[in-house]
Amino acid sequence: MTFDTVIKDGTCVTASEQFVADIGISGGKIAALGKDLQSADVIDASGRLVMPGGIEAHAHIAQNSATGGMTADDYTSGSISAAYGGNTCIIPFAAQHRGMGVTETLDLYDSRAAGASVLDYSYHLIVSDPTEKVLTEELPAAFKRGITSFKLFMTYDKMLVNDAQFLDVLSVAKEHGALTMVHAENAGMIKWMTDRLLAKGLKGPKYHALSHPALAEEEAIHRAICMAKLVDAPLLIVHVSTPEGAALVQNARQAGAMIYGETCPQYLFLTREDMDKPDMQGAAFMCSPPLRDKPTQDALWAHIQAGTFDVVSSDHSPYRMDESGKLANGPDAPFTVIANGMPGIGARLPMLFSEGVGKGRITVSEFVALSSTNAARLYGLLPQKGTLTVGADADITIWDPEKRGKITAANQQDNAGYSVFEGWEVTGLPVTTFSRGQRVIDEGALHVSAGHGKFLPRAKFDAGGRRGYLAPELDSTLNYDADIAP
Ligand code: URP
Ligand code: ZN
Ligand code: ZN
Repeated sequence: MTFDTVIKDGTCVTASEQFVADIGISGGKIAALGKDLQSADVIDASGRLVMPGGIEAHAHIAQNSATGGMTADDYTSGSISAAYGGNTCIIPFAAQHRGMGVTETLDLYDSRAAGASVLDYSYHLIVSDPTEKVLTEELPAAFKRGITSFKLFMTYDKMLVNDAQFLDVLSVAKEHGALTMVHAENAGMIKWMTDRLLAKGLKGPKYHALSHPALAEEEAIHRAICMAKLVDAPLLIVHVSTPEGAALVQNARQAGAMIYGETCPQYLFLTREDMDKPDMQGAAFMCSPPLRDKPTQDALWAHIQAGTFDVVSSDHSPYRMDESGKLANGPDAPFTVIANGMPGIGARLPMLFSEGVGKGRITVSEFVALSSTNAARLYGLLPQKGTLTVGADADITIWDPEKRGKITAANQQDNAGYSVFEGWEVTGLPVTTFSRGQRVIDEGALHVSAGHGKFLPRAKFDAGGRRGYLAPELDSTLNYDADIAP
């Protein structure tokens, strides 16, 4: 038998093992893993790592922010940057703003993504207005469309939901098999700090970090986990930026709750001192939760090593440093009206590989788990994506573990116009990326057109047999009067 393409003699890496093999690709799928596979199209991968392509599961692309601005990247530029960075699949957000229906929201994002992406894509649905219709009709309909993850905000005035609404969405998600994600920061604490900073005239970008205290994250993560436990629903805490928040995730899992965690490169590699720049330059580093400090970086790495985090995502939120983005409210605007977020979709994997695998902090299999396989499992894409197995989509990235490079805004291929990792030296870079068996990037060149990427309906969340946590008050096997009431 001959294959459409054979990737020859590479060191294949999955989340659980490494082995030298040829990969035979036919019809866009992995058709064989073995030795001496034949094809007219052979790529010599000896000395290289052959891994499932990255799945970027936290990116804001062609999205209106809470402040009304539009991200600098659309599905074409965002997916191209992702592909250059070794990704083969993206799951950005479709944001329901108040007053919008969920179906209307998904139709809007379909129109933005269709024909535009070079990589396969899905969306997480941001729910900011969980009306009765949304809960009973539109979320189940979204679920039938293959949108099996919902994101909630506990902060941002225009996006946040209250605790009862949070429980409503968790309950609907659990009933249908969706995974809820949460941006966990206490809105009241942020407002209180912000008011005091502004009253003292402290309005520059660097004060954004002070206005989002670590305790605001700790409190909100604790509350979110308690709510998930009450209804025994799975919950993923996104962009965890503090050791205290990570410890809450770790403890909840040890208690059996279906709690998952994500952190991002910016919390591992940058500190709030990066915001301490003249004029508005610090605005480039403004994100929420904000950058922290060096001890926090070390603690987050320890949590990666301990398995607290399932995924390391970029939280790519690109806004240009001009009036179309960060400076939309003027060159002296207070931090409260500067768009939050930073670009990073192209830098995520090179940074994680170089600083993680290259510096001996994680194994190459852990890199695959954190960058691809765990996202596929949590978001209903495994085994179609996220692993190297016969029958899976041939979404594969070949890495040269010795290749050196420097991160610059120009080589990120996105539209943000800057990189927060500018000048960072990395060792280990992707050289060839396949999406469904087609070369997307090869030796620095793009080989597919916008529209190659297709919408991916996703399967329901699979707890993998985990029983979950059962709040005694909701345990129907107990006799409440006899067992619990005093
Ligand atoms: O600052 C950030 N991360 N902006 C993007 C929106 C979000 O909260 O994830
Ligand atoms: Zn967020
Ligand atoms: Zn985000």
